[in-house]
Amino acid sequence: MSGWVWPALIAHRCGGALAPENTLAGLAIAARLGCRAVEFDVMLSRDGVPVLIHDETLTRTAGRRGQVARFAADELLAMDVGEVFHPAFRGETIPALDAALQRCRRLGLAANLEIKPAGGFEVETGRVVGRRLAALAPDAQPALLLSSFSATALEAAATEIDSLPRAFLADYCSAAALATARRLGCVSLNLSRRGLQADHVAEVRDAGLRMLVYTVNAPDEAGRLAGWGVSGVFSDRPDLLLPASVAPGAP
Ligand code: G3P
Ligand code: MG
Repeated sequence: MSGWVWPALIAHRCGGALAPENTLAGLAIAARLGCRAVEFDVMLSRDGVPVLIHDETLTRTAGRRGQVARFAADELLAMDVGEVFHPAFRGETIPALDAALQRCRRLGLAANLEIKPAGGFEVETGRVVGRRLAALAPDAQPALLLSSFSATALEAAATEIDSLPRAFLADYCSAAALATARRLGCVSLNLSRRGLQADHVAEVRDAGLRMLVYTVNAPDEAGRLAGWGVSGVFSDRPDLLLPASVAPGAP
C-alpha cells in the first residue's frame, strides 16, 4: 500500500529552488516549510545503484564533466552538489535512493519518485527501482507515487511492483499521452503547465485519471489550476505556494 494522498503541493526536486536539487538538504527544507510531499529524480550509477539526480551529465549540479552512468555509486555518493548551488551547502552530496526514502519516511514526507533513466537504460532503471521498492519493508517506505516520462521504464518498474500508484509524465496533453497512461494502468497523467488549458484537464479527468502539473511557482496560477480540477502542482517555490495550498487540490 502506497498511502499517497494527493497533496496539493509537491516540492519539486526535493526542496524546489531553496536548496541544491535532489538532495537530503532539500528534503529537510521542504519538511521545515511544512510541505507534505516532495518529488525527486532517480537514475542508475554505472554499477546499478539508484541515486537522486536529474541530468545525465554532472555539469550543471556538480560542476564537473562526465556522464552519471559512467561513475560507480561510491564515486557519485561522494560528489558535492551543494557548492555549485551556494557555498553554504558545500559538502551536500548526491544521495542514494535508499537514503532519500529513509529520510522522507523520518520526516513524514510523501515522495513522488520520478524514474529518470539515462538513454538506453530504461528497462534496467525501471526494474532496479521497482525491485528496490518491492524489497523495502512496508514500515520503511514513505507514501509513494511512481512516475516517468519513459513508458518503458514505468512498465518495467510495474513488473517488479504493481501495488504502487503510477503516473505517466508528458510535456503536453495529447491522445497518445492519455492512451499510454491508461495502458500502463496509471492513476494520473502529469503534465507541464506550458500550453495547458482547462479543456485538457477536463479530458483527463473524464478519462478517470488525475493530473499533477509541473512546474508552478505562482500562487494565482496554482489556484487557477486547482479550479480546473488539477489534483496538485510541483513547485520550485513551495515557500510561496504553501499558504495557497492549504486548500486541498481537486479529489
Ligand atoms: O515530475 C515532474 C517534473 O519533475 C518533471 O520534469 O524535468 O523537472 O524532472 P523534470
Ligand atoms: Mg522530475
